[in-house]
Amino acid sequence: MVTIAVTSGKGGVGKTSVVVNLAVALARLRHRVAILDADFGLGNVDVLLGLTPAFHLGHLLTGEKSLDEIMVTGPFGVRIIPASSGLRDLTALTVPQWRRLNAACDVLDREIDFLVIDTAPGISDNVIEMLQGSGRVVVVTSLEPSAIVDAYAVIKILTTNEPAKAIGLLVNGARSETEARMVFRQLDVAVQRFLGRTLEYDGFIPRDPGLRESVLAQRAIVDHRPQSPASRGFRALASRMVALEPPDGGSGLRLWAAGRYPAGPADAEVPQCA
Ligand SMILES: Nc1ncnc2c1ncn2[C@@H]1O[C@H](COP(=O)(O)OP(=O)(O)OP(=O)(O)O)[C@@H](O)[C@H]1O
Ligand SMILES: [Mg+2]
Repeated sequence: MVTIAVTSGKGGVGKTSVVVNLAVALARLRHRVAILDADFGLGNVDVLLGLTPAFHLGHLLTGEKSLDEIMVTGPFGVRIIPASSGLRDLTALTVPQWRRLNAACDVLDREIDFLVIDTAPGISDNVIEMLQGSGRVVVVTSLEPSAIVDAYAVIKILTTNEPAKAIGLLVNGARSETEARMVFRQLDVAVQRFLGRTLEYDGFIPRDPGLRESVLAQRAIVDHRPQSPASRGFRALASRMVALEPPDGGSGLRLWAAGRYPAGPADAEVPQCA
């Protein structure tokens, strides 16, 4: 299973749109795909796809439900592990919770080719943990200087913790390839100079009013308006991900928190989930 975590630093730059459309585009290429909504407290992948799951990740993390019981199936067979909404308990996962998540990912590993992970805005420990556990990280930025600065901050933390991590940059909302490449170069130069590494260019998604329409229709734009400019960008991203990481070459999702702490009394301290 290839795991691709999508992150940004700054909120609202298009992570969830990328996750949903990348996943559906991969599924349209006949890959077996799942989405892990790791915006634990305020996830909205299910809402974007018009799904109303009965259970969510919180139930899995407390041990009340199994992975099969919480997963729902969306368009083109994409499996979704829904996040909970408004559960503060989940904003910082405990070690036993990380362990349960790891165990669920081991199960997924046998059933799925690509696991696409949506993350919460910001650079909390949960987010960094998900990024470090994933095979590949896609950092999304818009053209705004604040988004670019926040993207740099994520890349810096990730590089400090794990210098060899594969990190790609996706520019969302650009008007042209040239504009997207300019943003990429700006960040790549800073990353080379101050962090001593390079970034990979994962492409760009044009600003497209069709995205808003698809959100209102609660469908992925690659499914709802497949010929729109944004859909073309998402399909190119999916093809790039397949080319970079053939589905049988992935290494699953390995979250270090689970391996780092031995099993012990902390296992009894899992808070109950609403
Ligand atoms: N390329 C685009 N063109 C037009 N609108 C876009 C584009 N990408 C995202 N949007 C819109 O921007 C808004 C924010 O997108 P989205 O929810 O995907 O961001 P996010 O990074 O997941 O936000 P959060 O940090 O709150 O989780 C949505 O209304 C979405 O439809
Ligand atoms: Mg989001």
